[in-house]
Amino acid sequence: MSEANDSSQPGRRDFLIKAAAVGIGAVTTLVPAGAGLVTLLDPLRHKAKAGRFLRVATLNSLPEDGTPRQFPVVSERQDAWNKYPEVRVGAVYLRKTGPKEVQAINVVCPHAGCFVNYQPDQRNYLCPCHNSRFALDGAIKDASSPSPRPLDTMEVKVEADGAVLVKFENYRAGIHEKIVAS
Ligand code: FES
Repeated sequence: MSEANDSSQPGRRDFLIKAAAVGIGAVTTLVPAGAGLVTLLDPLRHKAKAGRFLRVATLNSLPEDGTPRQFPVVSERQDAWNKYPEVRVGAVYLRKTGPKEVQAINVVCPHAGCFVNYQPDQRNYLCPCHNSRFALDGAIKDASSPSPRPLDTMEVKVEADGAVLVKFENYRAGIHEKIVAS
């Protein structure tokens, strides 16, 4: 019996050595392959980062009485595999709602994507395409407005130096839900 064990030892050792070699080979193959996959999917990761805070204006550029002002939103843009330098990605109305509070509203009408205009005499927004009317805070102002939802508001951060940053997004038009456009 002990002879049988002795004779099986070299075979077993060979098996273990081969198994270890296969394991190491698999690890050395899969790690670079995994890294390659991450690199390949990198544009998608960047896409997921969309909606980061972008510097749009300064606090002292906004009227104290809460009148909205329109600002372009400029950002680096990235599609699936290309990165572009700073380009205009949209526009917002900003208005002061307190000494250091600002509301941001996307200028795009949620009905079909026209740009709304601020009407100073009526202190509301009007969409020139199908006459949706919105209050100063973006709420639908009259029931005959065809827009399916209020104007789209976005998160705002005011920094210590007075910079106003907006977590900018464009949203899908024509639906009740506020869903980021892909
Ligand atoms: S696009 Fe604004 S009301 Fe139709």
